[in-house]
Amino acid sequence: MIPRLPPTAVVLGATGLVGGYLVSELTTSGVAVTVVGRRPLPGHHDPALSFHLLDFEGLRADPSTGTDLFAGDPAVFVALGTTRKAAGSKEAFRRVDLEYVRAVGQAARAAGVSHLLAVSSVGASVTARNFYLQVKGEAEEALDALDFPSLTLARPSLLLGHRTTPRPLERWSGALMGSLRPVLKGPFTRYRPIHARTVARALVQAARDPATGTAVLESHHLARLGG
Ligand SMILES: NC(=O)c1ccc[n+]([C@@H]2O[C@H](COP(=O)([O-])OP(=O)(O)OC[C@H]3O[C@@H](n4cnc5c(N)ncnc54)[C@H](OP(=O)(O)O)[C@@H]3O)[C@@H](O)[C@H]2O)c1
Repeated sequence: MIPRLPPTAVVLGATGLVGGYLVSELTTSGVAVTVVGRRPLPGHHDPALSFHLLDFEGLRADPSTGTDLFAGDPAVFVALGTTRKAAGSKEAFRRVDLEYVRAVGQAARAAGVSHLLAVSSVGASVTARNFYLQVKGEAEEALDALDFPSLTLARPSLLLGHRTTPRPLERWSGALMGSLRPVLKGPFTRYRPIHARTVARALVQAARDPATGTAVLESHHLARLGG
């Protein structure tokens, strides 16, 4: 028997590439979804979807203000993130990718959430030399330290998919990595670009069958699970 999805879910980052696919995958699977963000999802009128406007700075200052968002033990999907360019500085990037993510985790844990699933990145590590990967590693550690009954950390490689605001560097890297695909074998399989829809599908699959403790899904695992 295929394990069932939880009846409710909360998605943060739903206006983004992975988050948008998460919402579609969940709602088409019959899950009642609450989108939590700083702005509503444009053009969404699905009755299975509700929206909660969140003051992320308020949550960062006091995560206990967010516990109501997670009442009833929904599966919580965190696909938040920014870029240094969009955020304007390293500090501002860190605020979103680490501090907001940690505050969401703290609020969810305090509310008794059993399963949180977060999108991190291939290569995330607190010891990484690259600032982005180091912050992603810190976010993973911050969530892990909260001791959720089940925590899923997804580490996708470069994301493919249509963006309303183009990211030329990402498109260029996608083309380059795509041409390198045949040589990205064995331990390098995890660096193959992956479609954001595949990441979302893999996370929804993981929500059907929560592992005990922390499970890390590398990009090639995501490709298998969501493909
Ligand atoms: N792009 C890649 O190739 C890649 C590769 C590996 C891992 N990742 C990671 O995967 C995750 C999802 O990536 P994605 O490309 O789907 O993200 P995305 O399209 O950039 O969407 C990011 C989401 O975060 C929200 N967000 C950004 N800044 C915010 C702020 N200051 N306050 C509140 N919400 C904010 C956005 O909301 P608004 O719409 O309101 O801005 C949006 O919903 C991210 O953590 C990213 O770092 C990305």
